[in-house]
Amino acid sequence: MTSAQIRQSFLDFFASQGHTIVPSSSLLPDSPGLLFTNAGMNQFVPIFLGDRAADVSKWAGVRPAKDTRAADTQKCIRAGGKHNDLEDVGFDTYHHTLFEMLGNWSFGDYFKKESINWGWELITKVWGIPAKRLFATVYSPDKSKGDPSEFDQEAYDIWAEIFRKEGLDPKVHIVHGNKKDNFWMMGDTGPCGPCSEIHFNLLPSDDETEGRKGVNSSSPRCIEIWNHVFIQFNANADGTFSPLAAKHVDTGMGFERVAGIHAVSKGFKDFTAEPSNYEADVFAPLFAKITALSGKTYGRTVPTKREGLTEQEQTDVAFRVLADHARCVSCAIADNILPGNEGRNYVIRRILRRGILYGKKLGLQTGFFEQLVAPVVESLGTVFPELKERQDIVRRVIRSEEESFGRTLDRGLQIFTKAASAGSINGAAAFELYDTYGFPLDMTQLLATERGLTVDAAGFEAAMEAQRERGRASQKKEIVVAATEGEATALEATKFLGYEDTTAHGKLIDVIKADKDTFLVFDQTPFYAEMGGQTGDIGTALINGQLVHLTDCVKDKAGRHLHKVAEGSPAFTAGATAELSVDLTTRRAINRHHSAAHLIHWALRKVLGTHVRQAGTSKTADRMRFDFSHFEAVTHAQLLEVEQLVNAKVIDNAKVDTYETEFDQKPEGTLAFFGDKYGKFVRVVDIGGYSRELCGGTHVSTTGEIGLIKVVAEMAIAAGTRRIEAVAGQPAFNLVATREAALSAVSAHLGGGASDVVKKLEALLAAQKETEKQLKAFQQKALAGMAEELAAKATTRDGFKFVSAVVSVSDQEVLRSLGSQVLAKLGDGVVQLGAALGDKASLVAFCSPAAVKAGHQAGKIIQGLSTAIGGKGGGKPDFAMGGGKDIAKLAEVLGG
Ligand code: SER
Repeated sequence: MTSAQIRQSFLDFFASQGHTIVPSSSLLPDSPGLLFTNAGMNQFVPIFLGDRAADVSKWAGVRPAKDTRAADTQKCIRAGGKHNDLEDVGFDTYHHTLFEMLGNWSFGDYFKKESINWGWELITKVWGIPAKRLFATVYSPDKSKGDPSEFDQEAYDIWAEIFRKEGLDPKVHIVHGNKKDNFWMMGDTGPCGPCSEIHFNLLPSDDETEGRKGVNSSSPRCIEIWNHVFIQFNANADGTFSPLAAKHVDTGMGFERVAGIHAVSKGFKDFTAEPSNYEADVFAPLFAKITALSGKTYGRTVPTKREGLTEQEQTDVAFRVLADHARCVSCAIADNILPGNEGRNYVIRRILRRGILYGKKLGLQTGFFEQLVAPVVESLGTVFPELKERQDIVRRVIRSEEESFGRTLDRGLQIFTKAASAGSINGAAAFELYDTYGFPLDMTQLLATERGLTVDAAGFEAAMEAQRERGRASQKKEIVVAATEGEATALEATKFLGYEDTTAHGKLIDVIKADKDTFLVFDQTPFYAEMGGQTGDIGTALINGQLVHLTDCVKDKAGRHLHKVAEGSPAFTAGATAELSVDLTTRRAINRHHSAAHLIHWALRKVLGTHVRQAGTSKTADRMRFDFSHFEAVTHAQLLEVEQLVNAKVIDNAKVDTYETEFDQKPEGTLAFFGDKYGKFVRVVDIGGYSRELCGGTHVSTTGEIGLIKVVAEMAIAAGTRRIEAVAGQPAFNLVATREAALSAVSAHLGGGASDVVKKLEALLAAQKETEKQLKAFQQKALAGMAEELAAKATTRDGFKFVSAVVSVSDQEVLRSLGSQVLAKLGDGVVQLGAALGDKASLVAFCSPAAVKAGHQAGKIIQGLSTAIGGKGGGKPDFAMGGGKDIAKLAEVLGG
């Protein structure tokens, strides 16, 4: 069987058992707590939890054979978070950052008996894996460690019966495992349960006692191929486990492992050769490409340690790393996870940079990684069509990353070598490598390990924290509460009324002094406190008959809105009631910019692609900034399209809906941001049904209120991150008015109306070009005439013709040209010229070859002349330039 046939045979087998074959879900998980999709079950979490009905058609867009049974091959990345295999990739032959997980699921339908028996049937009967080589693990909690649940007697009995039927001893073939090995969790929270794994003895001999020893021993000669998880609990954030309403099955098979073993063992028959996933044919196009690019051959060696590798071991590790990383990075980008500076995006950047480093070890130059995309598409494009569709974007993103890292890699490696000569890499060096040369810490560690050195990771963290601290200090909005006059112990979040009201009464419950500023805290307020990039409200408070201006509003850790008081305000005492009024003009301007930001986000995703993700944003009354992931400059035409799209939506005057819902119930396609901590309830801002984001900000009620959106600028702010600045409403009108005034002024100068400006300007520029051409020709003629005149006045010195004069020219270049023309006219001789250019004097000297031979030196001549006019100069024997301040002395030194 080829790998494709193995995959298909798995799917066919489960289809024949009533399973709906669904497509792989994206590597970008829906759950904000997950870095990447790390298991086939991720997309089914809401079903397991009972939040959604078991209707797989919802996920897959296909009619299920049965709503309660699904099977697929799922792209998974395990390179961070709870499941991280990155460090092992390349050094062994069976861990990957990206792999395919073949899986079958039961949503409250069949349970352990069917799952285990079908599994057994597929691998031993359909595929013919020798039963004697298989071992099953069952869950046996270690109560001394607080492991949850009970011994999995049910799974044990099912396995015992199976092995007995095969004439094998269950005591030998069933291995017990505690929570560490036999209780599967997707992350710290979420659906989970005891599991039963199938391990495959790959030793040359099928001796069962020896085989059993290999289970869970990290031996490449005995590896887990299939995990059957019996989902029965939800892991809560506090570490407890709640039973679920229904019992589910979630299995996952390591596709590359099975395909690799199949290839090496010639169809599960001959186990003499060393097993390796990389022997599966899905890797073949990649290895062929790496060989073609590097001229090196893969030698199948596997190092036993991390330092002092032989050359062949180095090469083989690099082959495996490159093949693995190319698949991972390509699939991630195709699923809109672009390399970036934060979270999962940084993981992808790290993996790509790691790949580039290993490419360097093979002697590959910047630009090679991009070429690995084609073989990835060749081997996976049919199974994951998005790879094929988006291969162009994938290549462009990789190219731009390679170029930017390529600029600092070599210098970084030099810095590393220098730092390494000290015997270990200190924190400051590791941080400099990270900050200036883009070396992720794990890459520096990798380089250090190869040399048997260590990196001071704590020192690195300290340097990193110090930088963050500097960043925070420069953001003046951060408030250090130095003194609080109220009840400092019971800090309750302020009740925010500002979504509905812009005026309200609030009881003054605290007065806070921080530095020179005073902040007021009320029990409730209509003032929005800076959050999510939206600036805080300004306005007034009427307290005890006194009107106080509030110039900003920020939130502290307890969720209290701190209203900043204008300078020169009276003293306050807690307890008073205030009439709070938000400055409506300002708030409305902020709303416009906030809604405009959502529209621009929507339009960018439409114009540039769905890889565009918000990377930071700021909305004030004057403008909005929107930072987003994108790998190249946005073109003028694209910006225009964005502007057109958003303004069309403004004119449409769509309703802006805001509502609260449970995170899991948010509508399909709602944009949420990784790293944001969402509670059970989230607020959705829905513009016209096409733009949906989780957002806590304030907005216009219909898009027409925005009035007009104008993009002011687009720029790069980091590798892979762009920024758009735009204005909406009044500032947009002002921008247009200013531009129009400038245009009117220009058209007035040019004569005629604004509509002719371009034509007139083009005509003017063409005329100017023509004039310049003529002027140049004229100047050249004049110069030739001047040269003629000067040459005619030549005297003789030491048997050579000699010209020395002060001339009047426009610039140094003309002076040089004149000098060389005079010499050309003389044929042989020495020329020295000077001219006053602005407030300085310039000098040139030329000596013909014969004059040089006779001992004349332009450099020396200029040296002498320059010194005489209070300056410096010099040059070669045949030509030199110089100058000085003393214009008055020019005539004297040049004798004319
Ligand atoms: N979710 C389980 C795993 O990843 C089985 O699919 O191992």
